[in-house]
Amino acid sequence: MTHAEDAPGSSDLLVVANRLPFDLDEDGEWRRAPGGLVTALEPTLRSRGGAWVGWPGKPDVAPSAFDDEGMAIRPVPISADEVAAYYEGFANATLWPLYHDVVARPRFERSWWEAYRTVNERFAAAAADAAAEGATVWVQDYQLQLVPQMLRDRRPDLRIGFFLHIPFPPAELFAQLPWRRPVVEGLLGADVVGFQTVGGAENFRRVAARLTDATADDAPITVNGGSGHVTAPDGRTITVGAHPISVDAGHLDETARGDEVAERARSLRHELGDPRTVLLGVDRLDYTKGIDVRLQAFAETLEDGRLDPAETVLIQVATPSRERVEHYAEMRDDIELTVGRVNGEYGSIGHPVIHYVHRSTPRDELVAFYRAADVMLVTPYRDGMNLVAKEYVASRPDGDGALVLSEFTGAADDLGEGAFLVNPHDIDAVGDAIVTAASLDHEESRRRMGLMREQVLANDVERWAAGFLEALGVGS
Ligand code: ADP
Ligand code: G6P
Repeated sequence: MTHAEDAPGSSDLLVVANRLPFDLDEDGEWRRAPGGLVTALEPTLRSRGGAWVGWPGKPDVAPSAFDDEGMAIRPVPISADEVAAYYEGFANATLWPLYHDVVARPRFERSWWEAYRTVNERFAAAAADAAAEGATVWVQDYQLQLVPQMLRDRRPDLRIGFFLHIPFPPAELFAQLPWRRPVVEGLLGADVVGFQTVGGAENFRRVAARLTDATADDAPITVNGGSGHVTAPDGRTITVGAHPISVDAGHLDETARGDEVAERARSLRHELGDPRTVLLGVDRLDYTKGIDVRLQAFAETLEDGRLDPAETVLIQVATPSRERVEHYAEMRDDIELTVGRVNGEYGSIGHPVIHYVHRSTPRDELVAFYRAADVMLVTPYRDGMNLVAKEYVASRPDGDGALVLSEFTGAADDLGEGAFLVNPHDIDAVGDAIVTAASLDHEESRRRMGLMREQVLANDVERWAAGFLEALGVGS
């Protein structure tokens, strides 16, 4: 279907994402909400007079488009009912758990699917409206999987890329989705479909051949290298690749080198009572992150005496997230109960063993936390990448620190040589890894951190964006 009304706009490069790089606050003021993606793409978008199409993060508002130093900001309005059905429902109570190995049971609601389609169509229309003739459009993540084909229907002249930030599940799990075929066909509207890992890309290629009328090759897919190819029934070839995302490593490294951060890290340890070992977890409060397993494993190492509660402290920073989605509310209660129980058992007056913070932390403070931590705990049951693991590594210019990392994260593919890889379902193994990492000798700790830093500093988020755009045919 071609939409005759979609005359070209003026932007040559567009990012389409569920969220804008700005939030509308309570007073209706725009607040910058810069994530890694924004940092990576801002310079390119600005230099090309690009546009960012996304939701302002609040229901029932329709703010006007505006220009931010050469980057056009195009807000897409979403009503309160749609937030409930499209965002909290289909995106975060259907797709999120399904794509994360069914860690929680996905809900399949027909009305949520309808809302997902309606909202995806609105994003596609906004992108079609803003894109110049022959422009490149880069669609982001699981909330917008139908946009590539919807956009192609409206604007066959565009070059369209899609990147999935979360895992793409094995065919056996994906096949549960009642709307599996239209979702895959939506993605096949892109010219290039990118995934965090080789495994995710292979899963998608297999699913495309199995569930649609497309055919697929069996070319080896490699990280930032060899791609797979899917041929759609209309003869178009879709490139399927693995492009692991990263962090703004140079900037984190520089921030961590600053005197202020070093001083803040020292004072933090002092405030904690100068313990021998500081363990750290930093996550969105999400049931996929395995916060429960790390608290439990930590408690067991205190119980069996392998770690001394008088000399060990765990800081858990948890950002509030998706609080109106049922599983999230439940897991928050569970985590807070566990924190209370462990502190009740092993803490003493003025010296809790777990310091739990349920709020978002400013960037510099987070870097100070990273620098203060002897052991970083990243234990998701499943995670597309896990940027926290890479941020920790980038924030250790001193070359110290140890990382306990779940093997079910995309980051494990990149940092496996230096991290202590664990199966988060094996609580004994998590406990063992915590103890080993906490008692690591200096030389071994530096060796492992050195390996991880080499990886992260050489493969930062800018390189990731450039690599994907190159696969799409956009030169830097
Ligand atoms: P996800 O994308 O699933 O939330 P990632 O680990 O890939 O998981 O990315 C999380 C991002 O959110 C990181 O950039 C991290 O620094 C940031 N973040 C997580 N927790 C907090 C917090 N409490 N305060 C500030 N930023 C946080
Ligand atoms: C993950 C997803 C992103 C999402 C982010 C925060 O990183 O891949 O698409 O934006 O979590 O979640 P939220 O629901 O607050 O946007």
